[in-house]
Amino acid sequence: MSMTLDALQRKSGLIGESDVIREVLQTVAQIAPTDISVLVLGESGTGKEMVAKAIHTASRRKFEPLITVNCGAIPVGIIESELFGHKKGSFTGADEARKGYFEAAHKGTIFLDEIGETPLETQVKLLRVIETGEFIPVGGTQTQKVDVRIVAATHRDLREEIGRNNFRQDLYYRLKTVTITMPPLRDHVEDIAVLVERFGLEFATRNDLVFRSITPEAVRTLKSYRWPGNVRELKNVIESVLALNPGERITPELLATHLQLESFQPNPALPVLVTTPPEQSDRELVLRQLLFIRQDLHDLKHIAAGQPLAASPVDPYMPSPPPPSGVPEVLIGDVSALDQRPLIEPDAIGEVTMEEVEREIIAKTLAKFNHNRRRTAQSLGIAERTLYRKIQSYGLDKK
Ligand SMILES: Nc1ncnc2c1ncn2[C@@H]1O[C@H](COP(=O)(O)OP(=O)(O)OP(=O)(O)O)[C@@H](O)[C@H]1O
Ligand SMILES: [Mg+2]
Repeated sequence: MSMTLDALQRKSGLIGESDVIREVLQTVAQIAPTDISVLVLGESGTGKEMVAKAIHTASRRKFEPLITVNCGAIPVGIIESELFGHKKGSFTGADEARKGYFEAAHKGTIFLDEIGETPLETQVKLLRVIETGEFIPVGGTQTQKVDVRIVAATHRDLREEIGRNNFRQDLYYRLKTVTITMPPLRDHVEDIAVLVERFGLEFATRNDLVFRSITPEAVRTLKSYRWPGNVRELKNVIESVLALNPGERITPELLATHLQLESFQPNPALPVLVTTPPEQSDRELVLRQLLFIRQDLHDLKHIAAGQPLAASPVDPYMPSPPPPSGVPEVLIGDVSALDQRPLIEPDAIGEVTMEEVEREIIAKTLAKFNHNRRRTAQSLGIAERTLYRKIQSYGLDKK
């Protein structure tokens, strides 16, 4: 009893009309009602977590918990106690017994994100719980049993990791029975227009702004971009453009400062002549008209309430401490402008601590990479776990 693709798309919010995305949805609809484990592969920002949520939502477990575990962000020393729980007194500091994520996910789904980052010792225990539903809490002697559906994801090539002795072959074979591979955005650029409409409308609604859509030229610009950060990057670009240009229609000019020049490449996936079937352009036309009616309504509401049109944007993603006087203003999210000035102003020396410098560089790098922790850690040359710890201790969490 699987739901229709349209219903699945509405419920999960996973957008796309391209063949590749429809195939993904088709697979999700087929396997969601079963209890089979699923491995989701794909580059960063392609929607792996969305797929995990879609599987849960379309399953008979939908009213039970969906527990997401980022295996790459949990320090190695505590990962097993986080996953399987621990008994009181099992290690220094274990003053109370604690339930693990598996127990918390009982009857529901557990999403093991970045499974490629799990330590080898822990992988043995994961294999056991996947095969038998059994585990032993840290410091315990008794086996516990859970009923949990497992969805795992990674951006890594697990076969390569097996070759490097970073991933167990038996666990890989156990997981890969059903594999869903999320395509990079450059391989389904035909979805860009609908994605932009959705992200634009959502952002405008959240911030009480008007969304005046995007010009066909701007869609073409977006299609010729390589999207190293995939759909997440597209969403961030649209939100920044709208935050900085509230109420304006998106044009290539508005996009220019938000896209990295070096990521423009002749995109081999892009057909030179784009021909849209007539029924599709009709539908697009109707959608667009609906969109404009909606904006007019919004405008009228504001006029009737005596409020100015296009309220000033509030973007929760943008940390913006006012620049100290004398320091050239740096565009938010653009660290390159920092290259032109010394990292520390000479008159600040003696006033700043290593911690402050570290906090600042982490905050700025996070902003540049749209809070993508993997890319931030790579760029700073530190491990993702280390970055995670520092984000926690400096309170740099986005939420
Ligand atoms: N097909 C899609 N439709 C709508 N939104 C999408 C789609 N794909 C991705 N997104 C959005 O893009 C962002 C990134 O998606 P998600 O977190 O699922 O990616 P991911 O593959 O898990 O990335 P990472 O490997 O970096 O964790 C989210 O905000 C998500 O809502
Ligand atoms: Mg993810």
